[in-house]
Amino acid sequence: MTAIPVEPNRRDFLFIATGAVAAVGAAAVTWPMISQFNPDASTVAAGFPLDVDLAPMAVGQVIKVFWRGQPIFISHRTPKEIESAQSADWKSMRDPEPDSARVQPGREQWLVVSAICTHLGCIPTEHQGNFDGWFCQCHGSQYDSSGRIRLGPAPRNLPLVPYEFVSDDKIRIGKA
Ligand code: FES
Repeated sequence: MTAIPVEPNRRDFLFIATGAVAAVGAAAVTWPMISQFNPDASTVAAGFPLDVDLAPMAVGQVIKVFWRGQPIFISHRTPKEIESAQSADWKSMRDPEPDSARVQPGREQWLVVSAICTHLGCIPTEHQGNFDGWFCQCHGSQYDSSGRIRLGPAPRNLPLVPYEFVSDDKIRIGKA
């Protein structure tokens, strides 16, 4: 089985999935190991849930995983990123949405969003731009630390991805 990296040269890229319920160990795996556990194409296409172990993720780290064949960002936000996301004037934004509507109560440090720019589908780069978030190199869209569009041509925020916490340190992306 051949994995399809989004940006194979990025050191923080992770694509980890196993079986019907795929699982991610964020820090303890390497690419050769990961590739042995990739689900087959039909499993990915069917959109089976993807379990992601958050415990190895450092504060400030952003990883990418695949779910339903789409890249997903998981961001472990810093206190500064959370504060700037919460204090921004969301009502004046292009796609108005409070940060509280994009994260789970009591778990504001975790943001889980699509990694596909809402302009023309490039994958933005994390920790770049003016808003503690993402910068899309294709046409200059900038997203903040809540994944909301703040500058550039993209029309909408980075879409939210359905997930739930199945333990303190593990999320399940998608539904069983
Ligand atoms: Fe991201 Fe155009 S695809 S700004």
